[in-house]
Amino acid sequence: MYDHSLHQQIEQIVREENLDTAGNDSPFHTRLIANAAVIRELYGSLYGHHPSGDAQFGQLIRTMIRAHKQRPAGLRTRDDAKMDIGHWFLSNRITGMSLYVDRFAGDLRAMKGKLDYLDELGVNFLHLMPIFESPEGESDGGYAVSDFRKVDPRFGSLEDLQSLQEEMMSRDMYLMLDIVLNHTSHHHEWARKAKSGNKDYQDYYYMFPDRTLPDAYDRHMPEIFPESSPGSFTYDKDCGQWVMTVFHSYQWDLNYTNPGVLVDMLDNIFFYANLGVDILRIDAPAFIWKQLGTSCQNLPEAHAILRLIKQCVVVATPGMALLGEAIVAPKEIMKYFGTGNFTARECDFAYNATHMALQWDTLATGDIRVMMAAQHEILQKPYGTSWITYTRCHDDIGLGYEDYMIQQAGYEPFAHRTYIKDYYSGNHPGSPASGALFSVNPKTNDARISGSLASLCGLEKALLSGDQKDIALSIRKIILMQAHSFFLGGIPMLFYGDEAATTNDYTYLDDPGKSYDNRWMHRPVIDWQRMDKRKTKDTEVQRIFSATQDLIRIRKSLDLLADYKNLLWMPVHNIHVAGYVRTFENERLFCVFNFCAEEAFLTWYAFKQFGQLPVKMWDHWRKKEVTMGPDHEYLVIEPYGFYLLQPMNGK
Ligand code: GLC
Repeated sequence: MYDHSLHQQIEQIVREENLDTAGNDSPFHTRLIANAAVIRELYGSLYGHHPSGDAQFGQLIRTMIRAHKQRPAGLRTRDDAKMDIGHWFLSNRITGMSLYVDRFAGDLRAMKGKLDYLDELGVNFLHLMPIFESPEGESDGGYAVSDFRKVDPRFGSLEDLQSLQEEMMSRDMYLMLDIVLNHTSHHHEWARKAKSGNKDYQDYYYMFPDRTLPDAYDRHMPEIFPESSPGSFTYDKDCGQWVMTVFHSYQWDLNYTNPGVLVDMLDNIFFYANLGVDILRIDAPAFIWKQLGTSCQNLPEAHAILRLIKQCVVVATPGMALLGEAIVAPKEIMKYFGTGNFTARECDFAYNATHMALQWDTLATGDIRVMMAAQHEILQKPYGTSWITYTRCHDDIGLGYEDYMIQQAGYEPFAHRTYIKDYYSGNHPGSPASGALFSVNPKTNDARISGSLASLCGLEKALLSGDQKDIALSIRKIILMQAHSFFLGGIPMLFYGDEAATTNDYTYLDDPGKSYDNRWMHRPVIDWQRMDKRKTKDTEVQRIFSATQDLIRIRKSLDLLADYKNLLWMPVHNIHVAGYVRTFENERLFCVFNFCAEEAFLTWYAFKQFGQLPVKMWDHWRKKEVTMGPDHEYLVIEPYGFYLLQPMNGK
């Protein structure tokens, strides 16, 4: 709604900041005025009654104006091109990889030299795991940031990052970096000032003189790292206060009830945007608002902050999309796409964490029914938003789906989850997997799972035993898992090393800065000599690498795989076979996957339920024609095999 006094306030700031509203800055100015009311409303809902609310609102507008003014010309051109396309990020032509620069390449300079390798694979979107300054030994893999604007010297310099980004842009590649919004390292300048007694900066964190409030908070807050960092508060000797530390004791939670924190962090967000970030990964957004008496996760104010950030980004740096890393219950994940008037106006992306975990569930049981019971929730994703789909990432696998989904499949939730955890940690008799339990909470019996894709799929054990049949089977599982997530809709995000069947790396146990956190077992240091085996036929590296290449190629070649909210699940005819159809106009692609160790039979009727079909279908995976039979005959799918079938119209 138009608000005259707000308009005047903004025009005043615009004049003070010398914007050329009749010239170059005109499109920005239009966006600013058009979005001002909604920005003011969101801001007011959070800080309307805060003593410095008004002053900080002016600061927020200035922050946007300055971000726009500092935006390099090349990025403005790219913004325009992206806005012309519309939802550019829904494309089937983007394939991502998430990697640690040091463990993958060495440093940012050497990273440039690896772009050809990524090109060979088909990857054109990179998530560089945190590279900003973070104290060694207390770093949480870079997620404890002590300076949001200084590249940690172990990776190189800001210039190296800029130069890499320019090279990537010239190759039409996309970049993702993290903003660690929820907390800073206790070595961050703000934290250091707070430790030394500066009240303004103590207000940047949650600090309490005694245990009264921390105890009250703790009663409702689940523990994130119960083994290595129990509770959600840490006593700081320097200032004699209890500080909120939801994650590790060295990660201090920022206090977003203070508008100054929001404005400063928004400024950091724009700094990243102007480095050329295409998709910004907002780390742990579920945690950014705390309210006594609640779990302090997924609160409405956390969503209001994200919506506010989104509207500000749309105004100042419109080419940058947002990914909310909300690894929470299925229903809650969906809310990060926005609800009500803000549907599709919050995060552009979320991780499809529910589906990721369910794929692992399905692989362990060979039964797709729990996975199916969750789909009605996952399908609620609004048009214009998308998933990051993945099988593994740098974090653990949490079995975050709901109990009712397990019950609907006919299992008892506690026993079922115990089985899945035992299976992947290798504790279940005969389990081929070699993973480990992560963050076991003896009070609740909760645990998550660590381990690389290859090791969880049985390759580590199979290679040790040398059993060729087991090796072949685990390779099939790896490819099945990747394929199933690749075609589901959304940007597939490979985790580095998985494209080459890299098994667990146990060297983290010798490093005291890492040994307390077994997620490091699946964060390998890449051995490039081993990677060369991708050129030697029939090595496990070559088999996985070329299969991954094929999957990427197929996805890029089929525009119906862009994420137009165009996925339908096939009714279940065989509990071992998951099938979905991707559709666009008259085109269809049937993707069917056998999750069990035996051959599976799928009635041809399963396809015909989707209407009249030609008898011939093209299997993009085997690159050959398949002829459909009558309803009482079957498509036979080999153990852990899959088909990607496109009806051949006119045949
Ligand atoms: C995110 C990161 C995880 C980190 C946590 C705390 O979940 O993915 O690695 O430990 O945030 O920053």
